[in-house]
Amino acid sequence: MSKIKRIGVLTSGGDAPGMNAAIRAVTRAGINNGFEVYGIRMGFQGLIEGDIFRMQSQDVSGIIQKGGTFLQTARSMDFYKLEGRQLAYKQLEKFGIGAVVVIGGDGSFTGANLMTQEYDVSVIGIPGTIDNDLFGTDYTVGYDTALNTVTEAVDKIRDTASSHNRIFFVEVMGREAGFVAINSGIACGAEVIMVPRRANQIDKVRDFLKERAAKNRSSIIIVSEGLEEGGAMDIANVIKPEFPQFDIRVSILGHIQRGGSPSNKDRVVASIMGIAAVEAIKDSQTNIMVGWKNEQIVHVPLNKTIKMHKDISEELLRVVEEIGTFVPKNG
Ligand code: F6P
Repeated sequence: MSKIKRIGVLTSGGDAPGMNAAIRAVTRAGINNGFEVYGIRMGFQGLIEGDIFRMQSQDVSGIIQKGGTFLQTARSMDFYKLEGRQLAYKQLEKFGIGAVVVIGGDGSFTGANLMTQEYDVSVIGIPGTIDNDLFGTDYTVGYDTALNTVTEAVDKIRDTASSHNRIFFVEVMGREAGFVAINSGIACGAEVIMVPRRANQIDKVRDFLKERAAKNRSSIIIVSEGLEEGGAMDIANVIKPEFPQFDIRVSILGHIQRGGSPSNKDRVVASIMGIAAVEAIKDSQTNIMVGWKNEQIVHVPLNKTIKMHKDISEELLRVVEEIGTFVPKNG
């Protein structure tokens, strides 16, 4: 049984739909288990600056359906420095907080992991990012909503693309992982999906378009961010002059992918993870992320999830090929 009496909760890095559900679950499960729960505003930056307040159950009422994070978030550069983490720890001491639940992605977990090695504080991570790029979990909070947002947007682009017989390069978020691209691409019936970590993709898309030219058909080409050859605009600028017969357009979906009311799945999984994080603190665990594998909670050491890379599964790539979508490969 843990000696910790007070726990803090913060959201860090890019916001993701469902973060509010996670905060709500941590707060309510924390109080139900006899902890005092403290909200930390603006991520690690707020921790450094002491922007910390006691939360009661009613403080998290009416937030589960809202996008963003009511605690707000930041990408704190100060926390990457030793002095920043020192100040953060002083605030934890001042408030008597012995454990912090960090809802965020790998950048946030990297900072949190350093702090646990330097100071006597427990950290439990909840994966919160639309990118789904964390090793050790099948799922990150916000991913499902982002996929639905992208799918809806691309369906709309498809209407106008086919009406005008145009080729659209649609850029989606997802860092260097490509999960948003591959899964939304499948759902939208994209003709091509370009994912990171593959070389010379423009050459392959060029070949694809030559074939397409003969059929004079419109196409949706999903371009993940994080490609070596640049973003959708860069790629379209190379391709356009070579295919004057095509009417080519670019659409960069941008930050709409991070907003909006969370899906049912994001709310439910975030709630389960929030409760699991409190249970982990109760069991005196630290330095782990509560992940979601095969519909169950798993505990993954933070340093493992930070260091290891999660790949798009071969099985998924096989499915994509079978349904006739072209995904440029290496080699
Ligand atoms: O990690 C979430 C994410 O939305 C990425 O998909 C994207 O690369 C990045 O954050 C954008 O960050 P910012 O909002 O700081 O520009």
